[in-house]
Amino acid sequence: MLDGKKTLFSGMQATGTLTLGNYLGALKNWVDIADEYMTFYCVVDLHSITVRQDPAVLRKRARDLLTLYIAAGLDPEKNCIYYQSHVSGHAELSWILNCFTYMGELNRMTQFKDKAAKHADNINAGLFTYPVLMAADILLFQSDVVPVGMDQMQHLEITRDIAQRFNGIYGDVFTIPEAYLGKTGKKIMSLQDPAKKMSKSDENPNASIYLMDEPDAIIRKFKRAVTDSEACVRYSEDQPGIKNLIDIYSSVTGKTPEETEKEFDGKGYGEFKMAVGESVAALLKPVQDKFNELSKEKSYIDGIIKANDEKANYYALKTLRKVQKKVGFPERIR
Ligand code: TYM
Repeated sequence: MLDGKKTLFSGMQATGTLTLGNYLGALKNWVDIADEYMTFYCVVDLHSITVRQDPAVLRKRARDLLTLYIAAGLDPEKNCIYYQSHVSGHAELSWILNCFTYMGELNRMTQFKDKAAKHADNINAGLFTYPVLMAADILLFQSDVVPVGMDQMQHLEITRDIAQRFNGIYGDVFTIPEAYLGKTGKKIMSLQDPAKKMSKSDENPNASIYLMDEPDAIIRKFKRAVTDSEACVRYSEDQPGIKNLIDIYSSVTGKTPEETEKEFDGKGYGEFKMAVGESVAALLKPVQDKFNELSKEKSYIDGIIKANDEKANYYALKTLRKVQKKVGFPERIR
């Protein structure tokens, strides 16, 4: 809660190319519920350097991601769209919260275990304390709601635990945030292995739909998607490939999985896959066109960055000063 308004915070990493999972699990919901809240949509570039990045590539991706938020339909006049690295409150609050987080809690984080296994040569302290920075992001803006995909639920839980622990010691400092999960699309799986989530870092390009994929590529990837042998469009755990495609189709069209089953009753996989591919291509086309258009408007985007940096810093400082006082740092003399 900020200025008497319910607050929403969410963010994405500027690493890799965004996938349909990021879009359906998060970005699309951000746009759908933005009007109900005071919103902060962050490009989380501090999180990105927990794995090695090429500086020029990171800078470009961060800018593209910020542009994409706008292209996806978030009005930057109404929604605070900004870079995490431009608001020092994130890092400062993160340090304080580190001192209220236990090693044992962080050791249980499945994302840390996965990333540590993947980057065995670079298991840095930032990777370990990544969830604390995420907690700082959320708590800095007194967020009531955090729209994310399923894979971030454990990080949301630890955020709530840290906030409750802090409030237990110092009184009601932080709003306790709730996750917001969409009905469909909260866990989009790989098109090549429906046991794995669709991920930016998957090495097989056929496993993921990228937001900037051309319609032909999208349709081709859906045609090649791994499915099961039952040959009927049924929403069931025994048919994880088809279940994933139903989830995608339902999320895109706004239909329930049952309605989708009915629509394709008696029809084959081929026809269904084609319909899914076409619906996704049609969904992404306007976002892609808008992105290409906005990318050329350098001064417009620069103006957005400047204005929103100021807004984010203003609210971040409000919380930060309160926290600093609570923990006992000396007051500033003006
Ligand atoms: P990131 O960048 O990995 O993903 C961004 C968002 O996309 C969702 N997502 C998916 N949803 C459904 N199916 C999938 N296959 C899929 N893959 C990704 C994620 O759940 C996420 O919502 N740590 C976060 C970024 C972050 C953040 C925050 C999020 C930093 N601070 C504060 C919310 C609040 C991350 O790496 O997301």
